Amino acid sequence: MARPVRIAPSILSADFAKLGEEVAAVDKAGADWIHVDVMDGHYVPNITIGPAVVKAIRPHTQKLLDVHLMISPIDLYLDAFAEAGADTLTVHPEAGPHIHRTLQHIKSLGKRAGVVLNPGTPESVLDYLIDLVDLVLVMSVNPGFGGQHFIDSQLRKIEAIRARIDATGRPIDLEVDGGIDPVTAAKAIAAGADALVAGTATFKGGPSQYAANIAALRGHA
Ligand code: DX5
Ligand code: ZN
Repeated sequence: MARPVRIAPSILSADFAKLGEEVAAVDKAGADWIHVDVMDGHYVPNITIGPAVVKAIRPHTQKLLDVHLMISPIDLYLDAFAEAGADTLTVHPEAGPHIHRTLQHIKSLGKRAGVVLNPGTPESVLDYLIDLVDLVLVMSVNPGFGGQHFIDSQLRKIEAIRARIDATGRPIDLEVDGGIDPVTAAKAIAAGADALVAGTATFKGGPSQYAANIAALRGHA
């Protein structure tokens, strides 16, 4: 049975000088969620944006803001991203000392809680977390940069997590992030993903191409 696939453009590949317009453009072009990559130059070797930018883009879309936090320490900043208008806050277990507490904190803020697995992180990290999460994000590249190549070994992990999610009977989203293009999108969907992050593949060619790019990721080329 085919499940609907949500496409989440990563604004890391947008034109930062006109972020509001870019967010509105991908929204109009068919994006389901807007993926916001937050990097601190410490947990990952790149620096991007903070809560002020999340707040600035919030009025430009009604779609869910899917905020991927690649920052350490993490707990200090959860409230600020929630107040800025994030809908989902997704966190790396390696980014803080108490991932369970971090997820509880996100839930206490009334936000959707996501946990993200790096390519080297096994799915067993979910053993005592899955009851707390609304979303599992599988990194198909090492976090830090857009435009990297999809790591095929992650497909087995996506399959394993799909089985775990189905066993819960809860509607937990299974999202994949990194190196997604129409070819790898199809592989990730076949493995069980139901949400795909795409930066390079969404924004290539400029605004006139966004709708076609997003359709191609859904397999509607
Ligand atoms: C990487 C980020 C990704 C990245 C995806 O650390 O989490 O969201 O922007 O970019 P592409 O789609 O270009 O691989
Ligand atoms: Zn991301």
